[in-house]
Amino acid sequence: MLDYKKIIAEELAKITNVDINELESYIEIPPNTDLGDYAFPCFRLAKELKKAPPMIANEIKEQFPENEYIEKIDVVGGYLNIYVNKLPYVSDILKSVSDNRENYGKMTIGNGKTIVIDYSAPNIAKPFHIGHLRSTVIGGALYKMYKFLGYNVVGVNHLGDWGMGICRTIAGYKMWKDEYDFSVRPIDSILAIYVRYNKIEKEDPDFKKHAVEALKLLEEGDEETTKIWKWIIDVSLADYKKIYDLIGCEFDSYNGEAFYNDKMDRVVRELEEKNLLVESEGAKVVVMDEDIPPCIIITSAGTTIYATRDLAALLYRIDNYNFDKCLYLVASEQSLHFKQVFETLSKMGYEKYASACEHIPFGLVLDEDGQKMGSRKGNAVTLEEIFNESIEKSLQIIEEKNPTLENKEEVAKLVGVGAIIFNDLANNRIKDEIFDWKQILNFAGETGPYMQYTYVRTQSILRNAGYTPKFAEIDCTKLMDAEAINVIKAIGNFDDVLVSATQKNEPSLLSRYLIDLAQSFSRFYNEHHILTEDKAVQDARLLLTDAVGIVIKEGLALLGIKCPSQM
Ligand code: ARG
Repeated sequence: MLDYKKIIAEELAKITNVDINELESYIEIPPNTDLGDYAFPCFRLAKELKKAPPMIANEIKEQFPENEYIEKIDVVGGYLNIYVNKLPYVSDILKSVSDNRENYGKMTIGNGKTIVIDYSAPNIAKPFHIGHLRSTVIGGALYKMYKFLGYNVVGVNHLGDWGMGICRTIAGYKMWKDEYDFSVRPIDSILAIYVRYNKIEKEDPDFKKHAVEALKLLEEGDEETTKIWKWIIDVSLADYKKIYDLIGCEFDSYNGEAFYNDKMDRVVRELEEKNLLVESEGAKVVVMDEDIPPCIIITSAGTTIYATRDLAALLYRIDNYNFDKCLYLVASEQSLHFKQVFETLSKMGYEKYASACEHIPFGLVLDEDGQKMGSRKGNAVTLEEIFNESIEKSLQIIEEKNPTLENKEEVAKLVGVGAIIFNDLANNRIKDEIFDWKQILNFAGETGPYMQYTYVRTQSILRNAGYTPKFAEIDCTKLMDAEAINVIKAIGNFDDVLVSATQKNEPSLLSRYLIDLAQSFSRFYNEHHILTEDKAVQDARLLLTDAVGIVIKEGLALLGIKCPSQM
């Protein structure tokens, strides 16, 4: 594909003598076409050129040579608004999509770089509940996107499979196992035990001793306790994997907290060697530079802790993956924890790796009334329940809208799952997500079903035509109307969006982009007949329709959403 940013930057470099890569990095894509196809903010050069931005803009405009790809340049304040020649632009983009039907947008910019993505990481013994939806969905999308850009991606599920949580369940199981049935849905009984244990402990704090005892036995390697522990992990994982399959999540490692049990000594040893461990109220801690609490490494009870495990995990990841980036998809509640862990790693002498670590926080999931969804009180909303409900509701809608559709169940599954995923990724991740069924499943809103519906529409247009033209057969001059150009422009921006979405670790940039693409296709479709008497016009419009379908399908797949061909 033609690289317009490069084409523009080359001319700018000749005029300004500024480094071409630097210039290229400043070029923007304006939010709407009235401001040009590309824009250059001249204030970026003001310091270097020692001139006011509007002056720079005017000088560049005057000196900008004739270029077959550039139609005109406007100066607005300190901005250059650059308009491209539409014919080569449109034909280049459509050719590129047609030539790369299976992997349009795929890149190699990540080749040779390794990214660890630590995501999902539910706590064993609890069912997979809504509290882990966001990490799983956002992490799953980033995993796919980075791979698509050529990175070597290691998806790690740092399971919460150790500590007091699971030991409450173990202790409860030992006391009450005869009262429960584990033959049908063992995870439900395991959860019921956990909830029961917590309830008692709340009223009688002394009850905690059973869990403490279980943890002690587990640490000593007691056979019976270890057996129960392993079984609980197996049952829980089997349950989680149902969800991972449903949303197409992949992991390269399931090394959870327990995996680091025999790797904690090294953390303590290295900290001691570097004189970083300080006694504080019976605990051993690392003091932080900033005004934040110290990082506890050994508790006053003499045990290691969440942070110790994260440090052990980091040393392991450094040794085994030698990562260029290590991303943690964890709710913002844990910001302090990650600050402490990264700073400790840096003090240990691993500055390079510490600065390659990044906590990627996100907001809560709230119900329609603005209340936090799900809780440990026993009314936890499991992900399985949520997905099932979404699939059921989608089926009802399909029954109403399209009762004769074949494989309604299959389609409802794709729609129901896609709706939940899209809702999670629809806004900036740091914002709280509102879980409102009416919105999530609104086929006309900015939703997953709307995106899938737009894809389906492209496919049905092509089916009605009975053919998909080849790029060589079409006449791009038939696509010079404003609506078509807008659609094609969006298609051409796909790779740019993928790059910024990964740079910012913000999949919502991709979901917003897809909504924009679908909306511009709708405008095109409403303004113009695709199937018409004029064969040349029809062919050109069909190819455009085909290209829209390709990008939507690929874009949604990167978010974890599959498209039905009819719905
Ligand atoms: N299991 C933890 C929780 O549910 C999340 C783990 C995140 N990953 C990590 N390396 N700390 O809060």
